[in-house]
Amino acid sequence: MRKIKPKSYEYMEMLIGAESENKLLARKAADQLGLGLISLSSVEAGLLSALAEFSDAKKVVEIGTLTGLSALAVLENAGSDFKLWTLEKSPEHALAATKVLQNYISKGACEVIVGDAREKLEVLSAQAPFDLVFIDGNKAAYLDYFNWAIKNIRIGGLVVADNVFLSGAVWGESTEQKFNEKQIGAVKKMNELAFSDKNLKSFFIPTEEGMLVCKKLSS
Ligand SMILES: C[S@@+](CC[C@H](N)C(=O)[O-])C[C@H]1O[C@@H](n2cnc3c(N)ncnc32)[C@H](O)[C@@H]1O
Repeated sequence: MRKIKPKSYEYMEMLIGAESENKLLARKAADQLGLGLISLSSVEAGLLSALAEFSDAKKVVEIGTLTGLSALAVLENAGSDFKLWTLEKSPEHALAATKVLQNYISKGACEVIVGDAREKLEVLSAQAPFDLVFIDGNKAAYLDYFNWAIKNIRIGGLVVADNVFLSGAVWGESTEQKFNEKQIGAVKKMNELAFSDKNLKSFFIPTEEGMLVCKKLSS
């Protein structure tokens, strides 16, 4: 969650340029919920979009839809044989996202799944293997999401997780945004696993919030 935008972000956003009308609708809906600050910035949305495109992802799972901004980052670039399953616990957020994503939902490119992600992922396993899983939901469940993702992506597939620095809480900084021990423990364990599991090739993208990217090399 960012309150003051760093100059580097202002510079990058200036070059990235204006966002699509749909993305602006997603931001407006998030603002109306009082949650505009937790959507991906256009810089991070660009990273996610590029990771999906460069890995030729066609089956993508997203955990944490909010109002559909990050979903649009992958959908706006996708070809005709693409499917995104996006999971959201809050019925209010899911309803707003469904409006924003309606075009993609009606052509079968996107499904918004409402409920707790840990429960819904178990059902979604039937559609595996996936090409990319994007984690942006409940921080306390990040390790569970990550373990599910590495089990359910294909070899060569990607797991991408946002907010993996928890504003500095993972290296012990006391942050303005308070994270509890469960959240900090789960994100730290996920980050450690990403670099200790020999079946994964992992790297951090040092965005303001921290983005983790892992490629599955073998089972
Ligand atoms: C950081 S926001 C996602 C932002 C979104 N990816 C974007 O860039 O626009 C996190 C979302 O995860 C949802 N969430 C929280 N706990 C969840 C859970 N247990 N299962 C599914 N979604 C959850 C929240 O309701 C919220 O909408």
